[in-house]
Order: sequence, then structure tokens, then C-alpha cells
Amino acid sequence: MKLPQKIWIDGKFKDSRKPAVSVFDRGFLYGDGVYETMRVYGRKIFHFPEHYQRLMRSARGLGIKVKYACASLHSAAEKLLQVNGLKEAVVRITLTRGQGPLGFDPRPCQNPVMVMAAVPVPNHAQILYQKGIQLALARVRRNPRVSIDPAFKSINNLNNIFAKMEAIKQKSYEALMLNTEGYLAEGTISNLFFVKGNILHTPSLDCGLLAGVTRGLVIQLAKKRGLKIKEGFFVPKDLFLAHEVFITSTTLEVMPVARIVDEKARVHKINKGRVGCWAKTLRQDYQEEIVK
Ligand code: PDD
Repeated sequence: MKLPQKIWIDGKFKDSRKPAVSVFDRGFLYGDGVYETMRVYGRKIFHFPEHYQRLMRSARGLGIKVKYACASLHSAAEKLLQVNGLKEAVVRITLTRGQGPLGFDPRPCQNPVMVMAAVPVPNHAQILYQKGIQLALARVRRNPRVSIDPAFKSINNLNNIFAKMEAIKQKSYEALMLNTEGYLAEGTISNLFFVKGNILHTPSLDCGLLAGVTRGLVIQLAKKRGLKIKEGFFVPKDLFLAHEVFITSTTLEVMPVARIVDEKARVHKINKGRVGCWAKTLRQDYQEEIVK
């Protein structure tokens, strides 16, 4: 992988090829930290304040302090893009509890570590937006809120990785997880939507999922288009009977789903396997937001 030249770590720009974080860092040892992924279009970071707010919420959830105000972190991220000569990019902020002795007691770790890296945009083939992806219903369930709350964007991603491995086995682009009660929750890196009639459905945050920044924006855009929104508790059958299904995320934007493979490897075509008009319209509306 081609690495960017410079990373930002707690106020300093450093060579990305040189070690910067301790092997005793709690992020490395225990996945004890949080992160954000942001998309950069034409050197501008899309919805930075919303990502910052979520970073604050996640950090608060884990009891980790954020030393930087929104504006100062925003300008540091812009500087990072500049020093790496990146115009279209993804910026990742990782915040860990920092270095400490072995053991789970967080009290000795009083110096959180924050790293920002800017990388080129992952290439989601254009054809996928035209044809729609295949989504695999994973057997692994989303972490319940009472264990590791999915509302906190933690770097403890084993749950998502297990689901992603199932998607790969099923030759699918993304996996969809149910919560432990059997209700639809979310993808490994995305939120879920489906359309039935003139109602846009999406799992309620109470199902235990990340409040996606893209999810929030798509709900607003759909309302503007006159769609009714229903956030609720849904089961896989609701999805198989939907007129349209799509997923959203910062890096995928609005991605249509053409087929769903269930746990028994049966394939369910959505809208006869064709991309529906709402996915196209909302994707266009989303793209207009980017150039605003
Ligand atoms: N993932 N659900 C999960 C579990 C996610 O990891 C993400 C984002 C989303 C969508 O959130 P947003 O619209 O704010 O990107 C939902 C990012 C892209 C990532 O993991 O890098």
C-alpha cells in the first residue's frame, strides 16, 4: 500500500513510515479507543463538525478526553491534506487512551493519543452504483448496546471484521448484521435503508447501531423529496419484500443493493435485481450536497 508522506500526531507532522505510537498504547493492545472517517472532496472535508461531534460522543462514552476544539482539529486536518498534496481523500482520526502498563485498569493512562492520517479515496467501482451490490446477512450479531455500544465508533472492530469475513465467503460486497434480538441493525461500515411504497425505512438507533452522518443527511434529503420516514424495528423478511434497498456511509455515499444472500445462502433479488429510482435520486441529491 502506498502510504501518505506525513501523518499528524498530537499537533506534530511526522513521517508516516517511522514508528509514532508506542507498542504499549492501549489502542494497539486492547482496541481501547475511538475513530472517525471523513471524506474530502476538492480539499474540503465533508461535514467535519458532525464527525467531530460524534468523536466527542464516542470519546465521552469511553471516558477519554479530547484535547482539541473542533476548529483547531479542522484546520490541522486541512493542513495535513495540504502537506500530503491530497485533494480527493479520506481522513481518519484515531484517538486512543494512550500508553500505560499492561492490564485493563484505565487509570494510569492519562495522556490520550490522537493521530490523523489522510489517504487516497478507496475505489468503489462505478459499476456497483449502476448495478447495485450483493449484501450478505451475517450470522454474527451486532454487539449489543449493553456490551460494546455500537453508537460509539470504537476501534474495537472485531465484530465488524467477523461479519466482513462472512460477506467475503458469500462473495458479497458488504455484510448486514442483526442485533441479538433478531432485528436489522447495520452493515460493517454502513447504515441500512429500504423503501416500501412511499416510506423510507431505516433501523431505529434503539436497535443498536452507529448514528451515521450519511444516514442523517439522507433522512433529511428524503424528507425534502416528500418521502415519509419510518425509523423502527425491522426483520429480514421486511427487507426481502422491499421495493428498494440501499446502504449509506461516508465512503460509499448512497450504494444500491440488488441482491441479499440470507444465512442459508438463498439469494433474494430486490426490485428484480435492478437499481431503484429512490436510490438513484437520493444519490444524486447527496452528490449535489457535496458541491454546495
Ligand atoms: N464507517 N455503521 C458502521 C458500523 C460504520 O462503521 C459506519 C462508518 C457507518 C456509517 O457512518 P457514516 O455515514 O458516518 O460514515 C455505519 C466508516 C466509513 C469507516 O468505518 O471507515
